Amino acid sequence: MPKMEHSGAILTIDLGAVCANWLSLRERLSGLAECAGVVKADGYGLGAEKVAAALSGAGCRIFFVAHLDEALGLRAVLPDAEIHVLNGLMPGCAPEYIENRLVPVLNDLGSIDAWREFCVAQDQALPADVHVDTGMSRLGLPPGEVAILADQPHRLEGFTLANLISHLACADEPDHPLNRQQLADYRTALATLPAARRSFANSSGIFLGAEYHFDLARPGVALYGGNPTPGKPNPMTQVIRLQGKILQVRDVDTPLTVGYGATHKVTGPTRVATVAVGYADGFLRSLSSSGYGYIGGVRVPIIGRVSMDLITLDVSSVPHSQSLPGGLIDLIGPDNPVDAVAESAGTIGYEILTSLGRRYHRVYVDGN
Ligand SMILES: Cc1ncc(COP(=O)(O)O)c(C=O)c1O
Repeated sequence: MPKMEHSGAILTIDLGAVCANWLSLRERLSGLAECAGVVKADGYGLGAEKVAAALSGAGCRIFFVAHLDEALGLRAVLPDAEIHVLNGLMPGCAPEYIENRLVPVLNDLGSIDAWREFCVAQDQALPADVHVDTGMSRLGLPPGEVAILADQPHRLEGFTLANLISHLACADEPDHPLNRQQLADYRTALATLPAARRSFANSSGIFLGAEYHFDLARPGVALYGGNPTPGKPNPMTQVIRLQGKILQVRDVDTPLTVGYGATHKVTGPTRVATVAVGYADGFLRSLSSSGYGYIGGVRVPIIGRVSMDLITLDVSSVPHSQSLPGGLIDLIGPDNPVDAVAESAGTIGYEILTSLGRRYHRVYVDGN
């Protein structure tokens, strides 16, 4: 990680806010439902090991990642946690799951057979999850394979069925009919398969109501401050702040243009601040002439194209003393949270978070 003085931007990550978000989600769950933490993609870009260690301290004991290597990294810092690998069992990797006490999510009949055969050969009934596809058509057993499994229950013998999981496609749209359809199909699958812990809701799924909670919720984005209830006020606490450093400030006037492609034409005297953040830092190019920064609560628009290492902002509305080289501009923060930046970029908060660059100086704090 670059030193503070060397870096073009400072990314502050509030682990206290991540824990507060997890606790508030857990609070929302009905009955005895447990709350896991989804920390795939390096904890949605914020540092999986730091995030998971903080969550573990707050009481979280079940984690989901996508890749085996993500699970191995997590195991190194969390010797006792339950770690589940959503992308499933990779051929030839079963011994690594076992050595590291990792739980594969089995997404098809072939993986179920492979895990069972491996467990029988080891003479150990090791845990695995089975993912039932109820409407994503992505990972998991389609209804035809669920029916085969229900007819041939011996295929689930020889290992421990830990979780029966499924994943919602439209949980962030509460009125979408697919939510209820998936709920019904999940219930049908549960009724035909042996009993196991049931895990259905992601962040937004938790807000669909108690019937979606089952035994274990799997929130990701809401832990990191993303709004699980789009269109309504965000119930989560913001977690990150990204402050870009001003490298240069110049006064320009017509007939000049700013940046590549000369897309921004100056219409009058303008003060332009050049900040050391670009698309190579995951600051998306679609923010060209559409995103904003903030200086002391004052909005300063991005003008011209986002380039690889730089952006340019119109700081004319800010006193000179607040927009000098070496000063900081809030690119993500209290005034422009992740979801607002995502909207300006024409994407979702998930992409903003998971794109956060490696050249930022990262500061972990516990804001609580
Ligand atoms: C299977 C599964 N469960 C849970 C999650 C967490 O979802 P969210 O970040 O929307 O809470 C994801 C994320 O993509 C997922 O793929």
